[in-house]
Amino acid sequence: MSAVPATGGDNGHGPRHVAIIMDGNGRWARRRHLPRVLGHQRGVEAVRRTVRAAAELGLSALTLYAFSTENWRRPEDEVAALMGLLKHFIQTDLEEFARNGIRLKVIGDTSAFAPDIIAVIDHARARTAANTGMVMTVALNYGSRDEIARAARAAAAKGAITVDSIAAELDTADLPPLDLIIRTSGEVRLSNFLMWQAAYAEMLFLDVLWPDFGHDHLAEAIAEYVRRERRFGGR
Ligand code: IPE
Ligand code: IPE
Ligand code: MG
Repeated sequence: MSAVPATGGDNGHGPRHVAIIMDGNGRWARRRHLPRVLGHQRGVEAVRRTVRAAAELGLSALTLYAFSTENWRRPEDEVAALMGLLKHFIQTDLEEFARNGIRLKVIGDTSAFAPDIIAVIDHARARTAANTGMVMTVALNYGSRDEIARAARAAAAKGAITVDSIAAELDTADLPPLDLIIRTSGEVRLSNFLMWQAAYAEMLFLDVLWPDFGHDHLAEAIAEYVRRERRFGGR
């Protein structure tokens, strides 16, 4: 386990809110001549490791991009496999989260999901609603453009459209400001993830494929964050 330095560029503070674009499951499987779904299965194990590590490393919020508004473009059987894995993961891991004080939050438009998935998500939210530890947010049928459009509509319905009134309606409004975005798999793009929130977030693009990600990658990412200097436009 690599230690997180106590001092550094960011006034010595580690990040409170880290978001991860969990990419590379398909390539992980292809390199092993395995079906893509096995990559997604191993990706779930990486999620499990990462949630444990995030809580242990003291994050207040961990936000994971699990399914984008564009991922519906994938073949039906892959979408079905991802939905099945999501449902299974929540069912198997919910009690551990609940015991560890983790609160489960979902961002994105889940109304498009099948009723059985919605029921599992609603149950998990209710089961962990009173928890005061780390907030684990899963982005499902999430896209930044959709989120910003929804937030702007909600803001307009209440009054003036301003930066603050839109921000107050974002799916993440109740989370700490986003400090760090990590993307695995070597791709250097946001793919419609947290574009508003990323305005001043630090970004880290790692060559590791998501199924290989674990505690030490997260600890090293936090250490890298601490070494950086955030300026927010000032000097
Ligand atoms: C990320 O892995 C998982 C999801 C997008 C749900 P990919 O399936 O995108 O893997 P690559 O990018 O094809 O390797
Ligand atoms: C982003 O990965 C979405 C998730 C990780 C859920 P994609 O694999 O869908 O992104 P692109 O298509 O490479 O931009
Ligand atoms: Mg991908």
